[in-house]
Amino acid sequence: MPPDAWNPAQYGKFNTERSQPFYDLLDMLKRVEARPGRAVDLGCGTGALTRVLHERIGVSATTGLDSSDAMLAAAGQVATEGLRFIQGDISEFHDAAGFDVVFSNAALQWVPEHESLFEAISGMVRPGGQLAVQMPANDDHLSHSTAHRIAAETPFAAALGGYIRASWVRPPEWYSQRLFDLGFSEQSVRLQVYPHVLSQSRDVVEWVKGSLLTDYQRRMSPQLFAEYLEAYTEELVHLLGDAEPYFYPFKRVMIWGRKPQT
Ligand SMILES: C[S@@+](CC[C@H](N)C(=O)[O-])C[C@H]1O[C@@H](n2cnc3c(N)ncnc32)[C@H](O)[C@@H]1O
Repeated sequence: MPPDAWNPAQYGKFNTERSQPFYDLLDMLKRVEARPGRAVDLGCGTGALTRVLHERIGVSATTGLDSSDAMLAAAGQVATEGLRFIQGDISEFHDAAGFDVVFSNAALQWVPEHESLFEAISGMVRPGGQLAVQMPANDDHLSHSTAHRIAAETPFAAALGGYIRASWVRPPEWYSQRLFDLGFSEQSVRLQVYPHVLSQSRDVVEWVKGSLLTDYQRRMSPQLFAEYLEAYTEELVHLLGDAEPYFYPFKRVMIWGRKPQT
């Protein structure tokens, strides 16, 4: 596995914009009545938002799971009573006792095979429990398509061994059907466009550097990644125009479901 390129400081540059979908997802959850309730946050990152989740929904135990050393290093500082963080891969995670809330904000887009993934994570939702997932669905924007196109060009394609990051995210109605098939009797699934006003088009590069581009960064030498960034920036600014401010519409799929009590 290539090294971890997650960087809490880079990711946090758009903290306000990036945390709004988390709060919108949190608002979709019903307060947990089961005592003592258990929750899990899959791909918890720095854990700051996991703590908000833990304190808001009324569970006594919450686990934050993430595979990144760098993100989890920050999580240690927010651990509190009933809140713990563990390192692991979402696609291998299993917990036999199950959870009243299985939550994931901006992480499952990194995990392949959503058919089996949703079966696995919904299998950990207890009767009466809830599943809440938010994922970016912006792969058709120039910010993303240009990143993939430059990655396929010389000299980057050779260093990447032809790797191009796949988009695992399916259309909203696919998740709605999946929740139905997996026995969620109540559900709400929607596509939401977040209207981000960035000071200039060049800022889109800073945005994707904190997320999408980490996948290319970890597969290249620092020098080659610097060249990649230069080529990407030049092409992207050419395509977007050198606008100030720049309007960056960002689509996200919001998924909530609750299982019947028995
Ligand atoms: C965009 S960040 C979101 C972090 C946090 N949920 C938030 O809203 O601030 C995505 C996180 O998912 C984690 N991640 C990606 N793929 C993962 C996997 N297969 N297993 C565990 N964590 C993963 C990354 O390490 C990163 O911390």
